[in-house]
Amino acid sequence: MSAPTQTFDLVIAANRLPVDRVVGPDGDVSWRTSPGGLVTAMESVMRSREGAWVGWAGESGDAPEPFVQSDMYLRPVAMSEEDVAHYYEGCSNGTLWPIYHDVIVPATFHRFWFTAYERVNRRFAEAICEVAAEGATVWVHDYQLQLVPAMVRELRPDVRIGWFNHIPFPPVELFAQLPWRRALLEGLLGADYLGFQRVADAQNFVRACRQLLGLPTKGDTISVSRGANARRVRASAVPISIDFVGLQELARMPETQARAKEIRESLGNPDTLLLGIDRLDYTKGIGHRIKAYGELLEEGKVAPPREIFVQVATPSRERVAAYRDLRQEIEGEVGRLNGDHSVIGSAAVQYLHHAYPRDEMAALYLAADVLLVTPLRDGMNLVAKEYVTCRHDEGGALVLSEFTGAFHELHQAFVCNPHDIEGLKQTIMRAIETPDKDKRRLMRAMRRRVADHDVQRWAHRFLENLSHAPERPGTSKAQHEDRP
Ligand code: G6P
Repeated sequence: MSAPTQTFDLVIAANRLPVDRVVGPDGDVSWRTSPGGLVTAMESVMRSREGAWVGWAGESGDAPEPFVQSDMYLRPVAMSEEDVAHYYEGCSNGTLWPIYHDVIVPATFHRFWFTAYERVNRRFAEAICEVAAEGATVWVHDYQLQLVPAMVRELRPDVRIGWFNHIPFPPVELFAQLPWRRALLEGLLGADYLGFQRVADAQNFVRACRQLLGLPTKGDTISVSRGANARRVRASAVPISIDFVGLQELARMPETQARAKEIRESLGNPDTLLLGIDRLDYTKGIGHRIKAYGELLEEGKVAPPREIFVQVATPSRERVAAYRDLRQEIEGEVGRLNGDHSVIGSAAVQYLHHAYPRDEMAALYLAADVLLVTPLRDGMNLVAKEYVTCRHDEGGALVLSEFTGAFHELHQAFVCNPHDIEGLKQTIMRAIETPDKDKRRLMRAMRRRVADHDVQRWAHRFLENLSHAPERPGTSKAQHEDRP
């Protein structure tokens, strides 16, 4: 008889587990905690309670046995080749991702993709219920798992369920295109509390419930059913952040500073080093950025070796057609610009199609005079917050698209509309030319904001909102206060 499964007071569920598989020289497999802010935030909330994390280990086939890593119990969920193709690449990233990001590329609808989405969401819900203790708090993350809240509620009415959306929630006119719009809304309404990046995202959700499900809403609260089973669900904004203290510490290390200096030297110590760091995704506006920079090169406003632009493009979702097309387009453009504008010993654009470890990223941020963050749509954009965090010297300048969640917090950035190429060019030039003392003032204010609103605070706020979520039938708790 197998040993009874351990149960936990806090269960996190996200599509991915926070670990990377490492194969040693003798073929032995081990796991390394991935260095994301989400893990740091969860570690901070799990210090006070026993926690488990349910997620996919990143490869198709049988799931590894549950294991403990960084004091967290990890419960892998299996995914077959077909699940990866239909649930992950298909429904999550070929249907939902484009609809939730303003249809920058067309969305594809396949009924068999949604069937796989339901199947995998159910598998997650069952795994969650297996490890959740009586009365546990269950925190579900992101667009890949929108059916999970209702599935968990049905299996386990005793647990409290929250969901956080890391990406935007679309306006009802776009959301309404989804053939499965009703199932998705009903799935989410299984939660007690729903967190979003921006106020507008939460409002879009509430409006969708009102218009597409005909549910009564009042402010940020939706009434799900009437009579004895009446339940209210609250949807509000709790913008995510990063581990300010941990990342700043890394940026302050002498090794990181020495590496930043070395990076600048290896690029010929330019007057201005411009940097872009993005997942290679069509939402990031990399093409618009390169177009604007190309015109500045054309006009002689920037030129290597005086100005150098480094673009790091982290490989992503490479089996999805739109991502393959994007890579081809970007690499073609970079090649053309370099052919036209590079000089011997100095490329106009240094393009790096790699993922870098955290310490190298921190060094790049420290080395860069201007960071270009130009998404066409982005739930938050943590790269912007990481840059600000690393600049303990108060140097650097941030060019930031108004279509990011970060724009709503980092008011002192050089703000741009990436669709307006002329405006983007002017903003880039302003970021280069503004006197250092003025830029330091702007950077100082942005750093204060991120220091005060770090990822630990975000996680605590989310969990507090969840614990104060409107009472359930049969409970006598007074009506919740409104927590911003
Ligand atoms: C976004 C999503 C995450 C996702 C990440 C990387 O940030 O909000 O849920 O994990 O992109 O994408 P991937 O498809 O590689 O997990």
